[in-house]
Amino acid sequence: MKRFRELRTSAAIRDKYAEVSLKTSEFIYPYFVVEGTNVKQPITSLHGISRFSIDELLIDMEETVSLGIGAILIFGVIEEKEKDENGTAAYLPGGLVAKAVKAIKKKYPSITVITDVCLCGYTSHGHCGIIHNSEILNDSTLPLLAQMALRHAEAGADFVAPSAMMDGQVEAIRKLLDEKGYAKTKTLSYSAKYSSGFYGPFRDAAHSAPSFGDRKTYQMDYRSIDQAIGEVATDIEEGAEWVMVKPAHTYLDIIQRIKSNFPEVPLVAYQVSGEYMMIKAAAQAGLMNEEPAMLEALTAIKRAGANYIISYYAKDYARLYNPNSLHSIAAKDSTI
Ligand code: PBG
Repeated sequence: MKRFRELRTSAAIRDKYAEVSLKTSEFIYPYFVVEGTNVKQPITSLHGISRFSIDELLIDMEETVSLGIGAILIFGVIEEKEKDENGTAAYLPGGLVAKAVKAIKKKYPSITVITDVCLCGYTSHGHCGIIHNSEILNDSTLPLLAQMALRHAEAGADFVAPSAMMDGQVEAIRKLLDEKGYAKTKTLSYSAKYSSGFYGPFRDAAHSAPSFGDRKTYQMDYRSIDQAIGEVATDIEEGAEWVMVKPAHTYLDIIQRIKSNFPEVPLVAYQVSGEYMMIKAAAQAGLMNEEPAMLEALTAIKRAGANYIISYYAKDYARLYNPNSLHSIAAKDSTI
């Protein structure tokens, strides 16, 4: 008889055989930033997460930084009256995200700052590109995304992360950044971003829901696999330094395939708002314990092949498991 149970007799033994570990430095924590001062608005659809004005964001970041979280991802959230058809507020000089990045980099020069580059939070119609005759235009959107990325690079962002799923967006951004002297600003492309029902809570958080239609003509169809490989390969060709699969927990197979096809490229996976809230809401309803469920879900994303994880759980995870150290998957389990 082969005795597998010997591999599991105690927490210490289980630790020895653990093949996957997750460091707090491998997390990327999302922040939603708004105009104003002294603003900290808890987001009703995303429990535990708030929108912050820049001053409050800097205060909140003290904990994020001290926990050893390696990077943050910034989303700008603006008032409806500031939005227009072309998402002008996204790329105007002196915009909200640029101001936030500047302030963050001044106070915390060593944390990696990533900015989301997409028009959906800035257009009056809520789509990720500009619209003409009811059509979302790909090529006319590209220069606007590139301008938006440039504003973030000028402010000192380490990475710009295009998430609009327009073809050619990485090339357009890379070209402009290189031309303007920002060759050092990297691109993290949301390469394989699926059209997902799991973005619901985010769209409320960022006020970015489309006012009509859906995103199926630009985000990927969840029945496709090969297109994910093609999207990633193309983004790498266009100059993306890092790539992403999104959502994460529902797309572990895609994460694994991308990692095995492109082992040398850093891969980020985004545990999206709905994936986070499924665990939260189930725990709040008393249906399961949040801590082990969170740990298992996040570890699964790492096990599938992600190098970094964007998660609203980043701080909770870091609070529970020693910042900056490898955590013991088995340590909290019983030995019975
Ligand atoms: C912007 C964007 C979205 C998310 C990240 N960037 C929303 C969308 O595409 O509708 C979703 C993040 C989440 O659900 O946590 N395009």
